[in-house]
Amino acid sequence: MTKKIAIGMFQTGRVRDSWKMPGRQDDPNFTDLGYWIDLARRCEAAGADFLFLADSYGYPTLGDAIIPTAIERNVQFSTVDAQMLVSALASATERLGIVTTVSTQVEAPPVITRQYRTLDHFSNGRVGWNIVTGSAQAASALLFGEPLMPHDDRYAKAADHVELSLKFWEGCWEDGALIRDGAAGIWADPSKVHEIVHDGPFFSTRGVLVTPPSPQVTPTLFQAGASTAGRDLAARYAEAVFLAAEAPTLAAQIADIRARAVGYGRAADDIKCLIAGTFRVADSRDEAEAAHRAAIEQISLEHAATLYAYFTGIDLLSLDLDRPIPASAAQGDNGRTNIERFLGPDAPTVREVLEEFRANGVMGKPFLGTPGEIADQAEAMIAATDADGFLVQPDPDGGHDLFFGRVMPELRRRGLLKDELPGATLREHLFGEGRRRLPDTHPGAAFRRSAARVPV
Ligand SMILES: Cc1cc2nc3c(=O)[nH]c(=O)nc-3n(C[C@H](O)[C@H](O)[C@H](O)COP(=O)(O)O)c2cc1C
Repeated sequence: MTKKIAIGMFQTGRVRDSWKMPGRQDDPNFTDLGYWIDLARRCEAAGADFLFLADSYGYPTLGDAIIPTAIERNVQFSTVDAQMLVSALASATERLGIVTTVSTQVEAPPVITRQYRTLDHFSNGRVGWNIVTGSAQAASALLFGEPLMPHDDRYAKAADHVELSLKFWEGCWEDGALIRDGAAGIWADPSKVHEIVHDGPFFSTRGVLVTPPSPQVTPTLFQAGASTAGRDLAARYAEAVFLAAEAPTLAAQIADIRARAVGYGRAADDIKCLIAGTFRVADSRDEAEAAHRAAIEQISLEHAATLYAYFTGIDLLSLDLDRPIPASAAQGDNGRTNIERFLGPDAPTVREVLEEFRANGVMGKPFLGTPGEIADQAEAMIAATDADGFLVQPDPDGGHDLFFGRVMPELRRRGLLKDELPGATLREHLFGEGRRRLPDTHPGAAFRRSAARVPV
């Protein structure tokens, strides 16, 4: 039987700079709520599993200064607060999953557990949290007036954050705690609502998540950030992970995440590995390649360098263009995925890294050609990497509709897509009907209260 893949839709990763692309179909006016509602409705009509909204407080800086190109060209600069969109999108759709990004560096567990629980109620169980330690952390740290925390400490903090969040979600309210007996005037059973006492390395608390359990209890947990520490966090807690690289790197990353998950007592297929890629569809391969080249022409080297600085804090234009990134520059405490990706014996030169970022940004090579060619490439990618699906970034010229109208039908014809999204919740869309809650193999399940369980 053909493996059924998951399809998540990126908000148009280049929403921030697609405003200047000629001939686009979308009008990606990201300050207009109607744009987002329309996009969510189209994702739902096409049968996508979820819409993904990226977010970060960071923007491109070098040292302590904003890079002017970021402002001038809107390179990872202006955006809106994605979390604010979710209620509106949930109310405009019925089945579509909605995944948003919140960094564990910025908002504390009492804030985000309440937010996601509320949104899980409002969406009837369709929300997911993309757990990140955050891109452009140097800028974010300056913004919040905090020192830049060393990279691996940020991941240790993320683990503490997720542990505490899971305690709030899974450990506060026992099943049956909510009574809502209006006649008797009883809201909930105090013996079944538990205080969380947590004294971790980064977060301490004594308190209760006051919002009662939502359909998924814990939102579906995503993770992005493929550094070694990031993959380890994914292996411990994530139910789905976003990865972007070329096939051999992806295959190694996916194998590593699955092996680590098994090491943590989880099943290898408890994590859906989703490849983030750009899709450019046309009537012929030549046409698609020409359009891709034309799009690259619009991106200057300064733009590419600014994008790279956003993810890594490294100024490529200050380095020797004909040598690989030197070890001294590769030590930074910003994100590490896009540093580690370009190290090693076959490391490209700085010039090649710049060209790669110009052409593809953080994504791997695009999937391009006719719908049939793209489906061939997608199938080959799944076979080569053991991935479970895609996070699709449609090219800004064609927009989402070209992907929905031409590529999705071809994937469906080949039996790669689910006929219908199973279940009502996002977790069921990804794992099958009936799996509304975290499985027992997930560490969060250990925080559930029952007579037999020790206090959290
Ligand atoms: C498809 C995809 C989407 C991502 N979305 C976000 C995002 O919305 N916000 C964010 O801070 N990081 C996001 N990341 C992760 C960052 O690229 C970055 O790697 C991470 O935040 C820092 O972790 P690292 O040190 O492990 O690289 C995304 C990564 C991928 C592959």
